[in-house]
Amino acid sequence: MTSQHQQWGSRLTFILAATGSAVGLGNIWKFPYMVGESGGAAFVFVYLICIALIGLPMLVAEWLLGRRGQKNPVDTMRILARGNDRSPAWIVVGISAVLVGAVILSFYSVIGGWSLYYTLQAGAGRFAGVDVAGIELIFDTLLASPSTLTVAHTVFMVTSVAIVARGLKKGIETAVRVLMPALAILILILLSFAMTTGHFGEALRYMFAVDLGQIDGNTVLAAMGQAFFTLSVGAGVMIAYGSYLGPKINLLATARIVILLDTVFALVAGMLIFPIVFANGLEASEGPGLIFITLPVAFAQMTGGTAIGLLFFLLLSFAALTSAISLLEPAVEFLDERTRLGRAWATIVVGSLIWSLGNAALLSFNVWSDPLPIVGLGVFDFLDVLTSQYMLPLNGLLVVIFVGWMLDRHGALKELGLSGRAARVWGILMRVIAPLGVTAVFVAGLVG
Ligand code: PHE
Repeated sequence: MTSQHQQWGSRLTFILAATGSAVGLGNIWKFPYMVGESGGAAFVFVYLICIALIGLPMLVAEWLLGRRGQKNPVDTMRILARGNDRSPAWIVVGISAVLVGAVILSFYSVIGGWSLYYTLQAGAGRFAGVDVAGIELIFDTLLASPSTLTVAHTVFMVTSVAIVARGLKKGIETAVRVLMPALAILILILLSFAMTTGHFGEALRYMFAVDLGQIDGNTVLAAMGQAFFTLSVGAGVMIAYGSYLGPKINLLATARIVILLDTVFALVAGMLIFPIVFANGLEASEGPGLIFITLPVAFAQMTGGTAIGLLFFLLLSFAALTSAISLLEPAVEFLDERTRLGRAWATIVVGSLIWSLGNAALLSFNVWSDPLPIVGLGVFDFLDVLTSQYMLPLNGLLVVIFVGWMLDRHGALKELGLSGRAARVWGILMRVIAPLGVTAVFVAGLVG
C-alpha cells in the first residue's frame, strides 16, 4: 500500500492553481491577436460557444481522471484502464499527454523569456519616445540574438523549475497564492487605464457586436483550437492537477469558476489592448507581434507609458509563469513517482530536457532558420503546430472518449452529482458533442 497522495491545501488554492494554468500567454498574447486576425466579434462569439460546449466537458473529464487515479497521468490511465477492464493501450494517452506538456513548455518558455526581456526594457524606459521603426528594431534585435534569447529563456525556465522543485505545497501553492492576486490587481489597473483612452466603446463594439455572416469554417476551427490551449486541456496538466484533488470538491462547479475566470481574463486582455490599439491608429490584425510591437509603440507615445508598459509586461510574465509551472508538473509528477530521484531532482532533470529543446526552438529565429526537412517548418513553428494543432486535440479527443464511453457511466454521473435531465444533457455533451467537435478540429488540422 502506498501512502496517500498529496492534496491541495484547499479548494481555493486549487482554483488559483488551475486558473493560473489556464490564464497565460494564451489569454494575453494569443487571444487578442487571434481576435484581430479573425475579424473581431464573430471569433469571440464562436470561442465562447466552444469553451462552454467542448471546454467544460474536457476540463471536467481530465480532473475526474486525475482524481480517480491519484497518480501521474501515465499511471492514472494505466490504473483506470485496468480497473474498467479496458485495453492497457490506453496508457498511451497518459504518455502522450505528459510528452505534449513538456514539448509545449519548451517553446512557451521562449515566449516567457520575451516577456521577461520586455519587462526589463519597459522598466528601463527603453520604449519612451521611440518611433515604430525603433520598436521593430528592438523586437528584431531580440529575435536575432541567440545569446539574449537563451539568457531570457534560461531565466524563465530556472524560475519555473525553482518553484516546481519545492513541491506542491511550498512551491506551486505558494507561487499561485502570491501571483494570482497580483495578476488580478495588475489587470484591473491596466483596464481602468484603457477605459480612459476614449476608445473603449470602439473596442467593445469590435469585440462584441457580432456579425453572424462573418463566421466561416476557419473562424470555428481557430476558436476551437484556442479553447483547448487556453484551458490547458490535452497536455496532462489538468490530469496531474486533478490527482491532488480530494473527494469532496465539486468538479462541475469548480470547472465553471475556472472557465469563467479564464474567459474574463481573455476578454479583459482584449478590452485593454484594443483601446490602446485604436487610440493610436494601429492595426488590430497585426498578428503575433500585436503585443510585442504594437503595444510598445503605443507605450512609447503615451504619457505614463513607461509605467503602463512595465505593468503590462509584468502581468504577461506572471501569467506565463503560473502556466509554465503547470506544464512542468505532469512530467515531474511521473518521474518523482516512478523513480527514486525525489521531487527536486526530478524537476531538474525534466526542466533540463525541456530547456535543451527550447534552445533548439529559439535558434530557429536566427542561426537555424532553415525549415526542417520533411515538415517544412522551423523548430519553433514545428513544435507549436505539432502540439496545438495535432497533439492537444488528439489527446483531448481520447480523454473525452475514455471518460464518456469507457468509464462506468453511473459512477461518473454520481461523482458529478448529476441525475435526470442534467445527466442526459451532460451525457450528450461528453459523449457526442465534445468528441465530434474535437474530431472536427483534428481533421481540419490534418487537412489544413
Ligand atoms: N493555458 C495556457 C495559456 O493560455 C497554456 C497551456 C496549454 C498551459 C496547455 C498548460 C497546458 O497560456
